[in-house]
Amino acid sequence: MSDIIIKTPEQIEGIRKSSQLAGQSLVMIEEFVKPGVSTEFLNARIEEFVRGHGAVPATIGYNGYPKATCISLNDVVCHGIPSDSQILKEGDILNIDVTTILNGYYGDTSKMYSVGEISEHASRLIKAAKHSLDLGIQQVKPGNYVGNIGFVIGRYAKAQKYSVVYEFCGHGVGLEFHEAPQVDHIARKNTGDIMQPGMTFTIEPMINEGRASTKVDREDGWTARTKDGKLSAQFEHTILVTDDGYEVLSDVSGDYR
Ligand code: MF3
Ligand code: CO
Ligand code: CO
Repeated sequence: MSDIIIKTPEQIEGIRKSSQLAGQSLVMIEEFVKPGVSTEFLNARIEEFVRGHGAVPATIGYNGYPKATCISLNDVVCHGIPSDSQILKEGDILNIDVTTILNGYYGDTSKMYSVGEISEHASRLIKAAKHSLDLGIQQVKPGNYVGNIGFVIGRYAKAQKYSVVYEFCGHGVGLEFHEAPQVDHIARKNTGDIMQPGMTFTIEPMINEGRASTKVDREDGWTARTKDGKLSAQFEHTILVTDDGYEVLSDVSGDYR
């Protein structure tokens, strides 16, 4: 608890600007997501965009991670490494995750994309992952427990017959990439840290069609896949706890205002 940083108004403005840039990069890339395009092509467009706006991609060199984005296709839960040899095809679903460092401040956001026409079951999973994030966001207000984010997400996912990944979590963000608190996406009611105005953290639930368990690729040491090979979907925002609720710092759509 004591290691959770309460940000100053100046820091919040810096984190807001960085988060907005990360969010804008996810809008910019939309038109490039189509069959025949490589995940490295998408990565390169985002890297150019981020650097062109005076920011640095936070993932490059982070624990040795090589790229400006994580791009996670189909059964990949998170931390997919963009590659020239990975070519999008009709029916694929993918998450693109961007973390920017702008003037020293971190913003972290991700969303799902579909390639051409996707199956009914893939579409239903994507909608549930977005709704899971939104339910989590609605729990953000001073005095509430961080665990209640995971409580409502877990309850909803279970009702939808989906599972929630427990091996990767949301996190404090802003002055560093990964700060306290840890934000579990499946948790017991009224557990964990208490939210206070000025905290900034991500909520980024990974929702699986099948079982929750994941395995990390032995070759690259990063790519996390569902053990059962079924689909996974994720959306992420950077959130500020305000005096009476929340502000979605990485939202550029106006959906949360
Ligand atoms: N952006 C991811 C998150 O939401 C973290 C990626 S770390 C990396 O926390 F090293 F895999 F890039
Ligand atoms: Co994150
Ligand atoms: Co992220």
